[in-house]
Amino acid sequence: MRRPLRRRHLNAAVQSLAAAQALVRAVRGRPGGLCVLTGAGMSAESGIPTFRDALTGLWARFDPAELASEDGFRADPQRVWDWYAERREAARAAEPNAGHHALARFARRWPGTLALVTQNVDDLHQRAGNTDAVRLHGDLLADRWLQACPRRRDCSPDAAVPGRPPRCGECGNPLRPGVVWFGEELPPQALEAARQAAEACALMLVVGTSGAVWPAAGLVGLARRRGAQVLIVNPAASEIDDEAHLVLRGTAARMLPPLLLDDTVLGS
Ligand code: APR
Repeated sequence: MRRPLRRRHLNAAVQSLAAAQALVRAVRGRPGGLCVLTGAGMSAESGIPTFRDALTGLWARFDPAELASEDGFRADPQRVWDWYAERREAARAAEPNAGHHALARFARRWPGTLALVTQNVDDLHQRAGNTDAVRLHGDLLADRWLQACPRRRDCSPDAAVPGRPPRCGECGNPLRPGVVWFGEELPPQALEAARQAAEACALMLVVGTSGAVWPAAGLVGLARRRGAQVLIVNPAASEIDDEAHLVLRGTAARMLPPLLLDDTVLGS
C-alpha cells in the first residue's frame, strides 16, 4: 500500500531540508565557508515584484530594452525616470522578510562565515543588517550622472536641479538610477569580490534567482568547479538547477530560517 501523496511529499521535503541543514552546519564558523547569491525572489515576499515570473514579473509587463538600458533612457528619460521612481517608492515601503532576517542573524551568530552577494537593487539585505552585501547590479536608491561632466567638475548628484529626471543646472547632464542596465558592465570591484567569494566558499547557497542573467549566474558554476556544494532555494525550476547538489522547492522567507538557523523545522 502506498502512503498518501501529501505525506510522501512532506517527508521528502523534510529529508531534503535536513540534508540541506547538514550542509550549512558543516560550514558554520568557517571563514568564507558560505557564499549566498540572491535574486529578485529573495524580495518577492516583501512585496517587490520579480522580473521574470509569468504575469507578475516586471518584464512580463514592461520592455527591459525600453526601461533598463541607456538607449531606452536617452529615448525617453522622463518615462524611465518615472518608472524607477515608482520602483523606489515600492522598495522604500517594503520591509525585509524572514529570509532577509535569517541571513542577518546567521551573519551575527557566525561572524566571517557568510559572504552575501546580491543581484537585487533594493536595500532590504542592508536594512536587515547585512550592510556588507556585495551589490552586483547597483543600488536603486542611489542616483548618478548619466555621463561624465563635460566641464570636468565633480558635481554632487544632490546639486541637481529637480525634474524628471533632475539635471545639472550648468551642463544639463541628467541623473540616472545607480543600477546596472542591460549591456552595461558590472561594477568591477563588486564582481571581483563576488568571484573571490564563490571561489573560496565550501557551500554556495543560491536563493530566488532564475539564473538567466550573466555574469551573476556564472558564479554558481565557478563555485562548483572549485569544489563547493551547491544548494538552491527556489519554488520553481531555474536555469542553473543542473549545477545544484541539492534543490529546496520553497520560498526564501519560509526556507531560510530553518535552513540557516536550525531553530525551526518545516511545517511546525
Ligand atoms: N522565494 C524564492 N524564490 C522565488 C520566490 C520566493 N518567494 N518567488 C519567486 N522566486 C524565484 C522565481 O522562481 C525565479 O526563479 O525567483 C526567481 C526570480 O527570477 P528573475 O525574476 O529572473 O530575477 P533575477 O534572477 O534576480 O534576475 C536577474 O535580471 O532583470 C535583471 O537586473 C535584473 O538583477 C536582475 C537580473
